[in-house]
Amino acid sequence: MINLPMIIGGQPVDKKEKIDVIYPYTQQVIGQVPKGSPEDVKKAVEKAKIGLEKLKKLSSYEKYKILMKVAHLLEQRKDEFAKTIVYEVGKTIREARTEVERCISTIILSAEEAKRVHGEYIHIDAVPNGAGKKGFYFREPAGVVAAITPFNFPLNLTAHKIAPSIAAGCPFVLKPSERTPLSPIMLCQLFLEAGVPEEAVSIIPGYADVGQAMTTHPDVRVVSFTGSLKVGEIIARQAGLKKIVMELGSNSAVVVDKDADLERAAKKSVLGGFAVAGQVCISVQRVLVHEEVAGEFQQLLKEEVSKLKFGDPMDEETDVGPVITVDEVNRIQSWIQEAVQKGAKVLEGGVSCAEEKTVFQPTVITDIPEESKLFYEEAFAPVVTVKKFKDIDLAIKLVNKSNYGLQVGVFTNNLKNAWKFIQQAEVGGVIINDIPTFRADNMPYGGVKGSGIGREGPKFAIEDYTEIKMVVFDLNA
Ligand code: SIN
Repeated sequence: MINLPMIIGGQPVDKKEKIDVIYPYTQQVIGQVPKGSPEDVKKAVEKAKIGLEKLKKLSSYEKYKILMKVAHLLEQRKDEFAKTIVYEVGKTIREARTEVERCISTIILSAEEAKRVHGEYIHIDAVPNGAGKKGFYFREPAGVVAAITPFNFPLNLTAHKIAPSIAAGCPFVLKPSERTPLSPIMLCQLFLEAGVPEEAVSIIPGYADVGQAMTTHPDVRVVSFTGSLKVGEIIARQAGLKKIVMELGSNSAVVVDKDADLERAAKKSVLGGFAVAGQVCISVQRVLVHEEVAGEFQQLLKEEVSKLKFGDPMDEETDVGPVITVDEVNRIQSWIQEAVQKGAKVLEGGVSCAEEKTVFQPTVITDIPEESKLFYEEAFAPVVTVKKFKDIDLAIKLVNKSNYGLQVGVFTNNLKNAWKFIQQAEVGGVIINDIPTFRADNMPYGGVKGSGIGREGPKFAIEDYTEIKMVVFDLNA
C-alpha cells in the first residue's frame, strides 16, 4: 500500500476521508490519498500568494538550478516512479519507463526555458505619436496557476504544467486525476526537496468540487486543464476572466496514401493505436486508407495486431495493458456493437478478456460508418477503425469531419498531397510520414476546435503563464 498526504503550501496534510487508488489490472486497492475539499483549495491559494512573492525574488538562474535538481532527483528514483505509474494507470512497465524519461526531459526543458523568458525592444517612434519615446516589454509571472491533470500520463502531463509554471515564476495548485494521484504527489515532493519555495507547491486530490473551487477562485490567474471536452467546456464557462489553456480530446486520424510505405504505416498505426491501451489523446483512432491499397494494408494491419501481447502490465513482454476501469470496457463494447449494427466489420479482437476484466483485446474495425461513435467521438480505447477513400481531397474532408482537431498523421510520398494536408487539415499538428501519436516534449502541442485552446511544451506554456508588461520612456520630458 502506498499512502501519501496531500500538500498545501508545501506542508503534508492528511485527512480522515480518503480516496482509494486502484490497480486497474487486478482492481485491488494499492494506495490511498486524502480527499481534498474546496476549503483546502482556499488555503492553498492563500499560501500560493506568498509563494508568488518568494518566486519573484529568485533569479532565472536559481529557478534553472532548482528545476535541474528536480530532474536529477527524479533520475535517481526512476524505477520507483515507473512502478507507481503502472500501479495507478495500468500502462505497461515499458510505457511507464518511457513516461519517466520523458518527464525528466520536460523538466530539463523547463529549466532551460527559465533562462529565456525574454522581452523585446519596440521602436515606439515608428508611428508619429511615438516621436522621442523609447519602449520595451518584458514578461512577468501571471500569478497563481490552477492545474488539472488526467490519468493517462499522470507524471509527464503534470510536469508539463508545473515545471513551466515554476520556470515562469508562478506558484501552482494542482488537482491530479483522482484515479492517479500518487506519482503527481511524489513529483511535488521532489519539487520541494529541490528547493521550490514551499508556499508555491500545493497538490489536492479530489473530485469536481475541488476543481470548481480552483477554476473559480478570484486569485487564480491561469487555469491549465488536460481532460475531456465535456469538462473543458464546463471549466471555460466557470473560469471567467482568467487565462485558460486546454488540452482536450481527439479522434485522431492517420491517412495512408496509395504510394505510402504500407508496412511502415501499418506498424506505426499499431504503435499509435494501442499505446496505453489507446488511452492517449493522439491515439490512432481513424485510419483512412486509399482504396487502391486498402486490401493489402488491412492484411498488414491484422498481422501486426495479432502479434501484440496483451494482459499483465508488469510483464516485460506485454504490449497492451488494461484500460482504466470495467465501466470503460463496457462502454467500448457497446460502441463496437453500435458500429457493427451500422455496417462495420470486426477484423481483429472485439471483445474483453474473460479472466482479466479490464483487459480489452486490441481491436481493428473496418468499413466504419461515419455515423458511428467510434468514428465521430473520442474512443480512448484499444480500437483502431479503418475507412477507405477514393482521392486525397475526400481524405482531407474526412479528417476535418470532426469536432476535434489535435494532430493528423499522413503517410505519403507525394509532396503535393503532403502540402495539401499541411494547408487544409484543421488540426494543431500535421505529422508527415508518421502517426498523429508523435509528440516530442519541446514541440508546441495542442489543438483547434474541440481539442482545446493554447499550446503546451515548456516554451509555449511559459507564454501562457506570463503577462507582458510594456515600458515606455518619454525622452521629451
Ligand atoms: C495526451 O494524451 O494528450 C498526451 C500525449 C503525450 O504526451 O504523448
